[in-house]
Amino acid sequence: MIVIAHVSDIHLDGTVRAAERTNLVMRYLDRLDHDFDAVLVTGDIADHGRPEEYEEARKLLTSRHPVLVCPGNHDVREHYRQAFLGQEPAPGPINQVHTTDRAIYAICDSSIPGRHDGHLDEETITWLAGVLAASDRPVFIAFHHPPVTLHIPFIDEIRLHRAEPLAELVAGYPNVAAVLVGHAHAAAATTFAGKPLLVAPGIASGLILPWEGDYVADPGFPPSIAFHLYDDEGRLTTHYRVVPRGLPQGR
Ligand SMILES: [Fe+2]
Ligand SMILES: [Fe+2]
Repeated sequence: MIVIAHVSDIHLDGTVRAAERTNLVMRYLDRLDHDFDAVLVTGDIADHGRPEEYEEARKLLTSRHPVLVCPGNHDVREHYRQAFLGQEPAPGPINQVHTTDRAIYAICDSSIPGRHDGHLDEETITWLAGVLAASDRPVFIAFHHPPVTLHIPFIDEIRLHRAEPLAELVAGYPNVAAVLVGHAHAAAATTFAGKPLLVAPGIASGLILPWEGDYVADPGFPPSIAFHLYDDEGRLTTHYRVVPRGLPQGR
């Protein structure tokens, strides 16, 4: 069985609070008695996209498990590229593929420089089509912005727009296992083009649902993550977890 730990929206901003929350999650995953196939971090790494925030991210997003990271709307491609990939600053999308014996992870850049909504541009869609066509192993497609409405007005406005080309690809390749996103700071599960679409909760804060209040985000929400389990029959199960301060008791 494949098990992915899904972390999102750490929003490192130089404060002790953001660093502590991120550290709590990463150390928790390290201490568990399981080798995860991946720790996936779906964007909004640096709250302001500053180089020093990425330096901190590079130190905190370490793990004994493979760590896969994509940018979000708060990230700045040039600084992200330098810090995470050791590349010269360049404005294009940061798309990465991670291949294991059991699965393929297509990690896409859904950010639009200078904007908070998202899009997969032509370069990314062409790249993703190539990744999907290259193997019949299960593919997990990950990026930051949900490609559907979640019925939370604030986040629906700045979701991934013009998702039709992505929907065509997802519907056209039966080996797509799931689409995994962040951005909403809310644990949510729905479908996209007939496949599971799972949204990771935020580490930095939680978003308020329309019937819970008339403000947007609650920084009091505890850091939470998702575990995605993909079994040998090709069925996906997701468990959402508040990250405990210590290991589960009674072991
Ligand atoms: Fe975020
Ligand atoms: Fe975001």
